[in-house]
Amino acid sequence: MSFHPKMSYGTGLHQSARERPDPGEPFAFTPERRARLEEIALRYPPDRRRSALLPALHLVQEQQGYVSARAMEHVAEVIGVTPAEVEDVVTYYTMFRSKPAGTYLLQVCRTLSCALNGAERVTDALARKLGIAPGETDATGMFTLVEVECLGACDRGPVVMVNDGWHECVTPEGAERLVDELREKGTAALSGCHLRVEKP
Ligand code: FES
Repeated sequence: MSFHPKMSYGTGLHQSARERPDPGEPFAFTPERRARLEEIALRYPPDRRRSALLPALHLVQEQQGYVSARAMEHVAEVIGVTPAEVEDVVTYYTMFRSKPAGTYLLQVCRTLSCALNGAERVTDALARKLGIAPGETDATGMFTLVEVECLGACDRGPVVMVNDGWHECVTPEGAERLVDELREKGTAALSGCHLRVEKP
């Protein structure tokens, strides 16, 4: 079920268990990421190496921008589980993407608290500004817009997550300004505190 009348879970960039994963290009971790993974795996007992599966998938996403079927096979081999077990995890956690995204992934929370505070207007403003619909990437490859479920900051809605950072109490005007700043300053626009407190 979904709180949103027009959309169901499984839309956007997350692969549902019913979809076939994108095969993608041949994949192997870079030596640096493989070394980081081995360092993480050492935190677990040798017979619990599979516990490093989530960090391994985050490293894939950092390297490739999403998690392809070939990357899942590589992770399975490196961690010592089956590709099906890796796919189970990828399809369960919505933070793992099954399709490439733009440089900036704009995720607008559409769940109840954010919806009541105007999340739909924020999504509409971003869609207009970027000339795309939710689930799409703009022509420059810079921005991907998606709607997601609760981001865990319900008292500060509407919440927009840009890559790994939270932006809270976002207004339609604030969202448009954020796009301008990202175009102008790049990742520098994401540094510092993004908490914006609305005046009564
Ligand atoms: S409802 Fe939007 S963060 Fe929880």
